[in-house]
Amino acid sequence: MKSEIDDETCNRSTNWAFEEILSQRLARRDLMKGGLGAAALALLGGWAPSPMAPRAEANTSLFGFTGVPVSTRDVVTVPPGYAADVLYAWGDPISDGPAFKPDASNTAAEQEQQAGMHHDGLHFFPLPLGSGSSTRGLLAVNHEYTDDGLLHVGGMEPWTAEKVAKAQAAVGVSVVEVVLNDGTWRIVRPSRSAQRLTGRTPIRLAGPAAGQAMMKTGLNPTGLTVLGTMNNCAHGATPWGTYLTCEENFNGYFVNRSASIPPCQRRYGINERGAGYRWHEHDPRFDASAHPNEPNRFGWVVEIDPYDPNRQPVKQTALGRFKHEGATVTLAPDNRVVVYMGDDERFEYIYKFVSRKAFAHADRETNRRLLEEGTLYVARFHPDGRGDWRELTHGVNGLDQASGFSSQADVLVNTRAAGDRVGATKMDRPEWIAVHPRNREVYCALTNNASRGVEGRPGPDPMNPRSNNVFGHIVRWRETGGDPSATTFEWDIFVLCGDPANPQEAKQGNIKGDIFGSPDGLWFDDRGALWIQTDVSPSVLYKGDHATMGNNQMLAADPATGEVRRFLTGPRSDPAKPTAVSAWPDGPAGGRPRSATIVIRKRDGGVIGT
Ligand code: FEO
Ligand code: CA
Repeated sequence: MKSEIDDETCNRSTNWAFEEILSQRLARRDLMKGGLGAAALALLGGWAPSPMAPRAEANTSLFGFTGVPVSTRDVVTVPPGYAADVLYAWGDPISDGPAFKPDASNTAAEQEQQAGMHHDGLHFFPLPLGSGSSTRGLLAVNHEYTDDGLLHVGGMEPWTAEKVAKAQAAVGVSVVEVVLNDGTWRIVRPSRSAQRLTGRTPIRLAGPAAGQAMMKTGLNPTGLTVLGTMNNCAHGATPWGTYLTCEENFNGYFVNRSASIPPCQRRYGINERGAGYRWHEHDPRFDASAHPNEPNRFGWVVEIDPYDPNRQPVKQTALGRFKHEGATVTLAPDNRVVVYMGDDERFEYIYKFVSRKAFAHADRETNRRLLEEGTLYVARFHPDGRGDWRELTHGVNGLDQASGFSSQADVLVNTRAAGDRVGATKMDRPEWIAVHPRNREVYCALTNNASRGVEGRPGPDPMNPRSNNVFGHIVRWRETGGDPSATTFEWDIFVLCGDPANPQEAKQGNIKGDIFGSPDGLWFDDRGALWIQTDVSPSVLYKGDHATMGNNQMLAADPATGEVRRFLTGPRSDPAKPTAVSAWPDGPAGGRPRSATIVIRKRDGGVIGT
């Protein structure tokens, strides 16, 4: 869950319109009159039951586990009665391929048959398809990025073509077959179902931008195929059994050292330096000045069929291009497919896609095309607790030739600029989005934004109510009529993260329960518990405002009561000197720490969290 982002603010748009400032003032006036709307409560920073949907306080807790304390130890901790077992770590073979070499001497070709680094979004798909099995299935796992200091013998010096190839093989996605035997999950080896997508896997482009001029390169003159997916962060899963992986900070792999970087690249954070991955030094397509269309082919949602390794994955361009964080799928009452998506950068937007055609249960082939055609919207939050979804369609809402958009492909490749144009609301780094399984409320983690209100950047507003928002918050909304395809909604803030005891008022959270900061992963279980994973940046872990929070953690929240209880703490982290602070999971004899997927089980076989 890499949270290091360039401090540069890519969104220089001035779409905080006068009408918003005026209505914000009106909201504040209402507050003074005693009209306690959602927005006003957010400004006060005090907890209150949702004004959107008052509901009875539960008499008993949703949770039956004993919360765990914060931790700075180099272990995973879970409550009494639970176990956390390592299933699959960087370098482990996906099938019967090469074993991990603890001195990092596996070659690039070997890495292509092994787990990548930095496991992020993951999803379990039961075997066989449609069975609902919870004892055998396919696990799709994102490999978000590389720590090249750990990935190679000798780290990044010298930097070679082989090391670039290995880095490209260590990102992407795995699909592994897993089975529960005698109470223990393990990976099935060999498995004909195992898949590995890397930074070089051929992926088909589909939707309105496929084949268009801005997608064509010298290597791929048709604009229909791109090599690779990378910075795969959060995810989604469709009702027809496909996996959606989200390309997030793709800009960091490119550099552009030309005299003038085009605005369309600047808007996505492409700059002279990149994020230090240095792929361009041995793979020229990551030089964005020489290959200006190559970046246009990243920043998409990729659809993968975990059940068919021979099916080519697809970048679905109708879902827009940005630093995708999550693609959370739900269905409208008429069975059209709705996908909620965040754009994780400071002052960026929240989006949703609504398919043109409806999901058809029996027809998997037709369903595979549902994400190719539909309407993309961006969220405009109003300070009075209402909101609307603004359509990003060429010819609508001023998205036309006069405003610089020549086609729908142009709107999609430059989704951020389209959002600027229609007045989308700048949020504090939208990460995962989760839909409540019963009441359909939608929750979005806004992980943090230390630039809010700092050095001339946009100041606090009711939706993002804290300047220098180092701890983040979770916003939620309810679509009009409970229909996910609606174009209007009501919103409020579920929780302001942080420590209620923090002496700085602007940083105090209003958590009812265990403290946390930087919410990132969000997922609802069937009981309606909201699971929250944190991603405090290693650069601030254990320091200053974060001194009391310890390692990154997972918590469970009850939307009905606001209770938050800590369920898990992770191992230590420090990318600058990883071997000095962590040897997880192999211990000191392992040579280097490895990111890994763990399995948590309740020892009595019960449901997690009960
Ligand atoms: Fe990859 Fe926004 O976390
Ligand atoms: Ca994330």
